[in-house]
Amino acid sequence: MSLLAISNLSRSYRRGGKTIAAVDDVSFHIEPGETLALAGPSGSGKSTIARLVLRLIEPDAGRIEFEGSNFLALEGSALRAHRTRLQMVFQDPLAAFNPRATVARVLDDPLRIHGIASRSERPRSIAALLERVGLPADLTARAIHEISGGQRQRVAIARAIATKPSLIVLDEAVSALDVSVRGQVLELLLDLQRQERIAYLFISHDLGVVRAIAHRIVLLDGGRIAESGDARAVIDAPQSAIGKALLAAAPRLHRTSPQDT
Ligand SMILES: Nc1ncnc2c1ncn2[C@@H]1O[C@H](COP(=O)(O)OP(=O)(O)OP(=O)(O)O)[C@@H](O)[C@H]1O
Ligand SMILES: [Mg+2]
Repeated sequence: MSLLAISNLSRSYRRGGKTIAAVDDVSFHIEPGETLALAGPSGSGKSTIARLVLRLIEPDAGRIEFEGSNFLALEGSALRAHRTRLQMVFQDPLAAFNPRATVARVLDDPLRIHGIASRSERPRSIAALLERVGLPADLTARAIHEISGGQRQRVAIARAIATKPSLIVLDEAVSALDVSVRGQVLELLLDLQRQERIAYLFISHDLGVVRAIAHRIVLLDGGRIAESGDARAVIDAPQSAIGKALLAAAPRLHRTSPQDT
């Protein structure tokens, strides 16, 4: 049984009297501990799929199965329980968090809200989460706007793993980071995946990053799947027109990756 199985998912938007099929009859699955990349040009429907999977928006048609449940039909406590298993990291943690909140506060919230640790246990849980993502313990008192972009993205990852998810949706989560910090955060993601068998739905327009982290890739074009398969095979020799165009436009790809080591 797949961890996540999406079948015939569609979602359109009305804009200026016209209907835009943002996601059009998309099906794919993610296995436990696997990284599936969603790639494609701007406007191809990547973030719309992320929002559908997270149930931030509802589809017009299709089915989403997560951990064996009909995810779109879940409500109330069953939905809340599943939500802890499905977390997200977005491009800009400054927008996702209150910038004036402290790091401790950002990490305390999920532990408290989901009843994961008691009040007296939480400082220890927060310290363990920070250590898990390679941040110093004395960062807890700093405000989100006072730490670097790379540190902020590590805090976002710490917050995502606080509820012990089986799947994390990452929408351009490393795109805003400079190259060396990006490499370190990718290493952290690979490390967490190896140790905790977390699956990633990894959205990126950067084929070099996708090649380094993803097992499989789904290439989107105009809301439809243009091509899918083994990430390296597709990126090294795309068959679809959009795949060829993306490869031609990509800066020289790194042929080695963290997975080689
Ligand atoms: N809230 C909305 N209202 C109207 N149209 C929308 C809305 N959100 C997305 N769209 C449209 O749906 C299509 C897919 O958008 P989406 O944000 O999913 O693309 P994307 O692949 O994430 O692009 P990018 O790489 O630029 O982030 C686009 O044509 C977009 O303009
Ligand atoms: Mg997007």
